[in-house]
Amino acid sequence: AKMYKVTVVGSGNWGSVAAKLIASNTVKFGSFHDEVRMWVFEEKLPSGEKLTEVINKTNENVKYLPGVKLGKNVVADPDLENAVKDANMLVFVTPHQFMDGICKRLAGKIRADAEGISLIKGMEVKKEGPSMISNLITKQLGINCSVLMGANIANEIAMEKFSEATVGYNQNKSAADRWVQLFCTPYFNVTAIQDVEGVELCGTLKNVVAIAAGFVDGLEMGNNTKAAIMRIGLKEMMAFSKMWFPSVKDSTFFESCGVADLITTCMGGRNRKVADAYARNGGKKSFDELEAEMLHGQKLQGVLTAQEVHEVLRDRGWQHMFPLFSAVHAISTGRLPPSAIVKISEEKPR
Ligand code: NAD
Ligand code: 13P
Repeated sequence: AKMYKVTVVGSGNWGSVAAKLIASNTVKFGSFHDEVRMWVFEEKLPSGEKLTEVINKTNENVKYLPGVKLGKNVVADPDLENAVKDANMLVFVTPHQFMDGICKRLAGKIRADAEGISLIKGMEVKKEGPSMISNLITKQLGINCSVLMGANIANEIAMEKFSEATVGYNQNKSAADRWVQLFCTPYFNVTAIQDVEGVELCGTLKNVVAIAAGFVDGLEMGNNTKAAIMRIGLKEMMAFSKMWFPSVKDSTFFESCGVADLITTCMGGRNRKVADAYARNGGKKSFDELEAEMLHGQKLQGVLTAQEVHEVLRDRGWQHMFPLFSAVHAISTGRLPPSAIVKISEEKPR
């Protein structure tokens, strides 16, 4: 019987690809309703038409994923409450800075038996330290929330090129198995592990390292330097994660969500690309300006995450233990030049 109804909250570059993956499976497996609702933050296109209307007419997200058909069973909905009201599987995939507002709007409006999964890379800063987006969802909506992260540049998966991803779950293994079934395709291989924080911290923190990798590219420092930055970055990711979340497992960093996502994002991601341009401009244009010029509405997460990491480290006086993360923050806020990225000396985290 069709027991599960899926809604995707978000419809950017990755959100649209997630809807496409899911829609190919809901029609394949009898336990899911065919229709996949996708909440779209409504906007007017230059043609004067509304984005949702164009998606529903052409089956294509012409702004965030042009040229790719999403599946006829994807229905774009500009009304957030309406989009989630019947769903018992909620997929969250928006830039992380919008999630607090979205959760506030959704509180009390979702089904009591809903399960969530977050594809969102980012964190919130709390007095006690970093707080992950899956936790925000669980706290504000009162639902269990898994995560899915991996070496997943959206445009490549849209072209059905093979990749892997990691689902992180906490206690509910049967929900995790259902998420794996919903996302897995012959070209998208998903594995579930019991380490929700570890998976989410990997996806979140690698965006800071990707900014550093972009500076190195923009300064044309070469492959060895970039590899060094990635290695130091991976060590800081592990140390930061374990400092605040002692249950995080070392093995998680060797899954797709860990080292593989770090590599692909440092080679081909948006954070890398914009940081490269920032360094080439000698820091004369701000990240906000470059994001608007280069990404056409898509959003960076790495600069904000560097700020969030900086805040939680500053509160404890721990910045010196994370020289790479700290340098990315100082450079992206204009306090140091891009060349400072290689002036870091590696100190051993406590
Ligand atoms: P995106 O950056 O392509 O698009 C931005 C989205 O934000 C658009 O849908 C836009 O409508 C929406 N938006 C703008 N203003 C808003 C507001 N005020 N309130 C709510 N929504 C608003 O989005 P994306 O690539 O789908 O990224 C979502 C998450 O997925 C991020 O955390 C990102 O790190 C992660 N992710 C992205 C990729 C990728 O390759 N694109 C891969 C893996 C993970
Ligand atoms: P960017 O946001 O830097 O493009 O990274 C995408 C990503 O998270 C790949 O998994």
